[in-house]
Amino acid sequence: MRIIRCANYEELSQKAAEFVAAQITLKPDCVLGLPTGSTPIGMYARLVEMGMDFSEVTTFNLDEYYPIKKDNPQSYHYFMTENLYSKVNLKPENIYIPNGETTDPAAECKNYEKSILACGGLDMQVLGIGQNGHIGFNEPGEMLNSYTHVTKLTQNTIEANARFFNSMDDVPKQALTMGVATIMRARRILLLASGKSKAHVVRALQGSVIDPEIPATILAAHNDVTVIADAEALGE
Ligand code: F6R
Repeated sequence: MRIIRCANYEELSQKAAEFVAAQITLKPDCVLGLPTGSTPIGMYARLVEMGMDFSEVTTFNLDEYYPIKKDNPQSYHYFMTENLYSKVNLKPENIYIPNGETTDPAAECKNYEKSILACGGLDMQVLGIGQNGHIGFNEPGEMLNSYTHVTKLTQNTIEANARFFNSMDDVPKQALTMGVATIMRARRILLLASGKSKAHVVRALQGSVIDPEIPATILAAHNDVTVIADAEALGE
């Protein structure tokens, strides 16, 4: 695992954008796995500023709340449209995000996993990390050999995400998420961590002990992981 230290969020965003841009330059028709949340917002803004050519890129988002309408401003679909899809030349047919409006979530998850494989697998998966160590919505104590599935959000995640909603009651209680095994099949992983609320999980990540209570620690078993973290997330 390689750790790239950044002084602050701005530097983290710049470095993360350069990392993704390098992947696109190396392989213009690459398949990217993408996160939402507050951490990658600066990275998306820098990628847009760089004027990267996304015309051959395919993207798969990590997760989506369930159930949620695509036009709900808190949906990940809406987030991605605002921060990336509407600002770069990604082809609509090359954009994949779990459908939070589906009436058959199990079939949606199965088809999502199939689509990733049909596109040749993920060349690079970008991740944020939850305060409880979740990656995607793979919460502490869940199976580590899972593929895309429906999951219940933990109380900790509902509380952490309530800041984006009018009230805690408005936060959907479930999500559709790539599984840990889906993430681990990506050929390269980039994890972003910012702020002191992430310091304890970033510390755990740097050890080599895999702890199912901190799902991100599974990344110790992947051979191409880069963590870009700011000083606060590194506890400095
Ligand atoms: C988002 C996702 C989550 C977030 C995590 C950190 O698609 O899968 O795992 O990456 O909750 O969120 P922020 O960046 O808001 O701290």
